[in-house]
Amino acid sequence: MNRNWLELVFPAALGLLVVTIGVFLMSMTGLLHEEPLSLENDVVELAGDSLRAAPRPATIPLPPGTDPAAVAAGDALFKGNCAQCHAINDVVVGPALAGLAKRRSESWLIPWVKNSSKVVASGDEYAVKIYNQYQKQQMPSFQLSDDEIRQILLYVRSQEGAASAAGPGLVVVD
Ligand code: HEC
Repeated sequence: MNRNWLELVFPAALGLLVVTIGVFLMSMTGLLHEEPLSLENDVVELAGDSLRAAPRPATIPLPPGTDPAAVAAGDALFKGNCAQCHAINDVVVGPALAGLAKRRSESWLIPWVKNSSKVVASGDEYAVKIYNQYQKQQMPSFQLSDDEIRQILLYVRSQEGAASAAGPGLVVVD
């Protein structure tokens, strides 16, 4: 055999073999898998988008570590002050209060309960709308503290959780 020819081919073949093994090893270790990696990122982004777009849950679960005593206090305050006109899931004189935490922020609700006519008079769009919707029947003002109102709101949330069994709402057995 021609020795010069072998001297040329052998290193070339060896080189090819090394490259092939190298590519194989890289693909095994995932170094060449650019595509699946970025695909994974896409999937994560997609999941993030759909999470952001997902409808909010029907009930907002009580904050973890909610004090059951605060819920019980809210229960008593609700029965003493609100229950004559409000139920959680039914319209009585005023609207059903289920889903309240989803509709209104605490910073709206506290002044409302203290003095709803003041909120209506301020021109607050939501307040005016609901006031008109309920035949301009004024809700009484309540001399309750912010904390007492928060307790009532916690109680409302605990009850809507119990009624719909939709979330880990706190269930109060009394
Ligand atoms: C005498 C009846 C009456 C009592 C008592 C009463 N409310 Fe109301 N409430 C209403 C009416 C009527 C409305 C509808 C708005 C309006 O007409 O001003 C309303 C509206 C509300 C709203 C707005 C509801 C929504 O869907 O956005 C909240 C919150 C509320 N009341 C909480 C309370 C709380 C808390 C208490 C007890 C501390 C209470 N209410 C006591 C009659 C009452």
